[in-house]
Amino acid sequence: MLRGNDRGSYTVPSPRLYPHQWAWDSAFAAIGWAHFDPTRAWLEIETLFTGQWPDGRIPHILFHRRDADYFPGPDFWQTEWTTSISQPPVWATAVRRLVEITGDESRLPALTPKIDASHRWFHDQRDPLGVGAIAVAHPWESGLDNCPVWDAPMNRVDVSNPPSFERRDTGVVGDASQRPTDDQYVQYACIVKAIARDDFGPGPFAVYDPLVTAILARAEEDLAWLSARAALPTKAAARAERLRRGLTNHLYDEDLGRFVYHDARADERITCDVIGAYLPLFANLDAPLATRLRAGLQERFRANHPLPSTSPLDPLFEAKRYWRGPTWINTNWLLADDVCGTDPGLGQATVDLVRDNGFYEYFDADTGAGLGGESFTWSAALCLDLIARGDAT
Ligand code: DGY
Repeated sequence: MLRGNDRGSYTVPSPRLYPHQWAWDSAFAAIGWAHFDPTRAWLEIETLFTGQWPDGRIPHILFHRRDADYFPGPDFWQTEWTTSISQPPVWATAVRRLVEITGDESRLPALTPKIDASHRWFHDQRDPLGVGAIAVAHPWESGLDNCPVWDAPMNRVDVSNPPSFERRDTGVVGDASQRPTDDQYVQYACIVKAIARDDFGPGPFAVYDPLVTAILARAEEDLAWLSARAALPTKAAARAERLRRGLTNHLYDEDLGRFVYHDARADERITCDVIGAYLPLFANLDAPLATRLRAGLQERFRANHPLPSTSPLDPLFEAKRYWRGPTWINTNWLLADDVCGTDPGLGQATVDLVRDNGFYEYFDADTGAGLGGESFTWSAALCLDLIARGDAT
């Protein structure tokens, strides 16, 4: 699968639907490559860093080649060859995993300062209220594009003067009910244009996101581990601690027993019951808090094929639509170490789901049917890792 999606120095997430290099997909792909071709794994990460901006940001897509079949390309973003937003920063975690798997530390002196700069960019550019958490500037920056939490803030985006464009994704995924809606695409496009007008600053959308904050907190710990090995001091450990405090002080809801999102522009909390509300489990939280989150997942995310991306009990759950209900392999991988009480365990359930239904982008949590893009890179890469970690056979 990975060899089929290999474009020489980077791996496309899915050949027709996503024909470029996506940042978090690429980090997950590298973890897969590490299990059978370590040199190729390191190349994947090094190629990702060729797209780094002078201000430190790792763009969410690198357009190494032109492809008229993908929208929006660099012309629409008004950039040379990358997008202008980032994605959940899993690259430090991936690099640590590469070191663990391959035993090779020789790339760390070059990579560590670049990773450090990409993390500092999030703290500098994505925390408008200075609360020690991360606010995404576009739903695409969250990785969970059409998750119900974005509905209210997206509906506040000014769409009175929409740019003209033609969607390409629905031509690839024939069933439009598995993709975001046309109205959402207009909103996505308007935010892209507003960010360009803001000189590639944050633009009009700023929503604090517990998933991205937790991933960065964990990535900071992993960066501290890497920088110790490279003997290059960073402030990553202190930043991880600040993010964990920001998460619990700013985004934890004691009554709900889970994390919430916060629209910084409208000063409004968003409490949908979605997987991101529990993802802080990945950030090594205090035991009582983690226990509460696990209990919430066990109670409200029950499914034949866990974990659905939105609780089936939430009124906005949709079984087949992208990030509004289906089960995804990457969120399962992020949580597999922390979620217990499913039978079989979450790692085994994840590998079984892919083995029985194919390397799809996401899966119906009830029937297991594969949905979205085909030949999806991280569905293969992360299963390899779950098996190698001993979480599945
Ligand atoms: C897409 O093309 O659907 C992507 O998720 C945007 O990054």
